[in-house]
This record gives sequence, structure tokens and C-alpha cells, in this order.
Amino acid sequence: MMDTVLTGLRTNGDYHLGNYIGALRPMIDFATNKAADYQINIFAPDLHSFTTPIDHSAFHKQTMDNLRLFVAAGIPLENPNVHMYRQSRIPAHSELTWILMNFTGFGEFNRMVEFKDKSSKLDGDRVSVGLFGYPALMAADILLYGARWVPVGDDQRQHLEFTRTIAERMNNQFGLELVIPESIQKQQEFVGRLDAPRIRSLRNPDKKMSKSIDDPAGTILLTDDPAAAVKKIMSAETDSIGAINLDWDNQPGISNLLTILAYMQGKLVSDIVSQWQGSERYGDLKKAVAAEVSGFLEQLQAQVAKVDDAALISYLERSEAKMNSIASKTLTEVQRAIGLRD
Ligand code: TRP
Repeated sequence: MMDTVLTGLRTNGDYHLGNYIGALRPMIDFATNKAADYQINIFAPDLHSFTTPIDHSAFHKQTMDNLRLFVAAGIPLENPNVHMYRQSRIPAHSELTWILMNFTGFGEFNRMVEFKDKSSKLDGDRVSVGLFGYPALMAADILLYGARWVPVGDDQRQHLEFTRTIAERMNNQFGLELVIPESIQKQQEFVGRLDAPRIRSLRNPDKKMSKSIDDPAGTILLTDDPAAAVKKIMSAETDSIGAINLDWDNQPGISNLLTILAYMQGKLVSDIVSQWQGSERYGDLKKAVAAEVSGFLEQLQAQVAKVDDAALISYLERSEAKMNSIASKTLTEVQRAIGLRD
């Protein structure tokens, strides 16, 4: 049996260059290089998407647009070990979530930092029970497929820990054999996440690049017009030191540009740094980054336009049928163990 590597890629909201460099590209490269050794599950956690308020009238299109983007960016769907699917099309996710919630203490979820963060930003009556309980859904996402490897960022650390805890609890109490995913540290060693670059805002290079509503001029959306992206890069915030160095403390803007350039060219940051270090020409560096990024956007957007929707939908349906049979098998075992079936 091959190990399963599982990733949930959010599909509510536009993807930006930071998501691409930090998450999408590494995941696609992994799937491309390692599909002979692993089952690779890549899914849209669309049931997670409305734990906080969203625009439901745009939601379905948003999900499909993002799936189209993933295909255009090169997820190797032709490989039989790679599976891309929508969570909501596999009912076992919802059913296992309900079961797991009943073996979870209120206090366990009340400690979740993401819940505290997100709920503090909402009016009281908009804080949903779904937001509170969503770690159980994430655990179901993982446990249904016996995924050992779930490469997540630090922000998902508690949710992964919860998944391990609830899996162990169910195994101990009911003699189940749910696969317990590895610890976050092992996950990060596994994918080399520790080295994954954090792309910063072009406008506030002390902060991560984030969704455009907060920081439109600092964020390059993958849907941006290439000419608009060039403008954003040419007016990126730098510093008055006047020499190009990789120095995140004192020159975060320049360091960010060097990092973007390296990733766009598929080179090591250290190589790009030695190429540019000492130069005083911030404008030239910006031009080089702008040329790379606009070329990249043009190419990606052309690929997106070429995605065949009918083929994508038929792919998803076939993949979801396979995932349904795997997930239902796990769900049945859990149902049997807790006395819902004999
Ligand atoms: N909660 C994750 C996020 O916010 C997305 C996600 C949902 C996920 N289910 C998952 C990630 C299962 C990994 C495994 O990014």
C-alpha cells in the first residue's frame, strides 16, 4: 500500500502570487515528481468555505475557476495516482464530521487559535457553529482516506494535532485502525516546507502577501492583467539604502523582489542574490521581476483559457466516484465500530 499525501486547496477567493509560489507550485511539483510513490489527493474544501460569511451567488463559479486554475498550473491529472475532487461531492465527509464531533469536547475546539482569530473579526451573531466545529471536518477530510502525509502550514498545526488526537481516541475506544497522520514537524520535513518562501506584500513588505481586498496594490492576483502587475511591481516599496542585499530585517522589499525573481526563474535565491548583490539599481531589479511575472501571468492565463470545462467536469465526476468508494469504506468501518451497523 502506498502512503497517501493529502492537500486541501481553498477555492473561495482569488489566488495570488504568494499562494502560487508558497503552496500551489510546490504541491504541483511534488505531484509531478512523486506520483509513482504516493497516492496524491488534492481537493477543494468547499464545505469549509462558508464557515465565515461568503457571497454564495459567486461561490460555485469561484470554485470552478480555481479548479480550472489548478489544472492550468499543471496538476498532473492524467496520472492515475493523482486525484482532484470537491469535498462536498463526497457525503462521507459530512457524516464522519458529525460522528467525530460527538467524541470531541467543547473545550478542545474552544482552544483553537484560528477560531479565536476568525471569530474575533466577526460580529457575534455571525460567528457560526460551523466555524467552531470545522476542525472535525478537517479531521474527516484526512482520516477518510488514511492520509499519512498532510503538508500544512503552521496556521493549521492545531487542526492537524486535533486530527491525530481524535484518530487515536477513536482507535483506542473502538478498536478502529484509522491511520494517524504524522506530526507537523515530520510533515514539514517531508515536504521541505521549512524552506518554502513567504512572499510579502509589495506595499507592506513586513507582511505576507494577502487577499487583494486588504492590500490591492501589494498583491499580484493570478488573474491580474499583466500590465497592471508590472505597475504594481514597478511601484513596489523598497528602502533608501541604495544597495541590493538579501536582508529581510532592513531591506524586506528588496529581499522580496529577489525571492520572487528566483522562484519565477526556477533558480536558487542564493544564485539570484549573488547575481544582483552590490548593484545599486533597484529599477533594474524591478524591471527584471516585472518582466518575469508578466510573462508568467500571460502564459498561465492562456493556459486557463484553454481548459476544457466539459473534460474537467467529467474528470471530477470520475475522480469523485473513486473517492466516494474509498471514503465510504472508512465511514462504514467507523459506523460499525460505534454501533450504527453490525
Ligand atoms: N483548513 C485548511 C486551510 O485553511 C484547508 C483544509 C481543509 C485542509 N481540509 C483540509 C488542509 C485537510 C489539509 C487537509 O488552509
